[in-house]
Amino acid sequence: TVRRQRPRRLLCWALVAVLLADLLALSDTLAVMSVDLGSESMKATLRYFQHLLGKQADNPHVALYRSRFPEHELIVDPQRQTVRFQISPQLQFSPEEVLGMVLNYSRSLAEDFAEQPIKDAVITVPAFFNQAERRAVLQAARMAGLKVLQLINDNTATALSYGVFRRKDINSTAQNVMFYDMGSGSTVCTIVTYQTVKTKEAGMQPQLQIRGVGFDRTLGGLEMELR
Ligand SMILES: *[C@@H]1O[C@H](CO)[C@@H](O)[C@H](O)[C@H]1NC(C)=O
Ligand SMILES: *[C@@H]1O[C@H](CO)[C@@H](O)[C@H](O)[C@H]1NC(C)=O
Repeated sequence: TVRRQRPRRLLCWALVAVLLADLLALSDTLAVMSVDLGSESMKATLRYFQHLLGKQADNPHVALYRSRFPEHELIVDPQRQTVRFQISPQLQFSPEEVLGMVLNYSRSLAEDFAEQPIKDAVITVPAFFNQAERRAVLQAARMAGLKVLQLINDNTATALSYGVFRRKDINSTAQNVMFYDMGSGSTVCTIVTYQTVKTKEAGMQPQLQIRGVGFDRTLGGLEMELR
């Protein structure tokens, strides 16, 4: 069986989802889910499968994955040139299918919390995800039957959340804030400027601008654990 990992930040994101709904003037129920799945899962058979999303079999990150997790049997999909997990002789899963299951499970958690059905989602992805990786997330969401209203970079979501809760501190003087996010598999540093600006329609409005992003795709808790 495939053990599903719990997204850790769901409750907090559910709150942000309400705020996002306000901000983006979307009336539909929103669920914000993170694909930054935690490392502390107990006996997950497919560890860190998200590192394989949207990658060709010859990608160096796939080779790194093989060396880090030799217990997982990966086979190459001859058509797509991507890899799949061989669970048993009969059972294979692509990383997208595994993420689809995780998203579906996350949706059931969000539905329990919201006490209503959820179809629409805003999904956060790491800022460094490329187009193929973003497509893989969209494909996984489709498998889970979720309609993706938007993919949003997780550092942008963090900056947005910070701005919403610190609205009172934002004035006409530009303030720069650095967000530093070291997770289990990667590290991202983002510099954001907050400032109120004059708009024609609504007068002074708070605004955020992402000034710069730096990252290391492999620096994280896992790397430290392995050394
Ligand atoms: C999603 O999860 C529900 C239970 O919450 C299950 O009934 C359904 O079959 C799952 N759908 C998919 C596509 O995995
Ligand atoms: C804006 O707020 C910061 C602190 O939040 C303060 O130091 C600064 O003086 C304020 N600037 C203006 C123009 O009010």
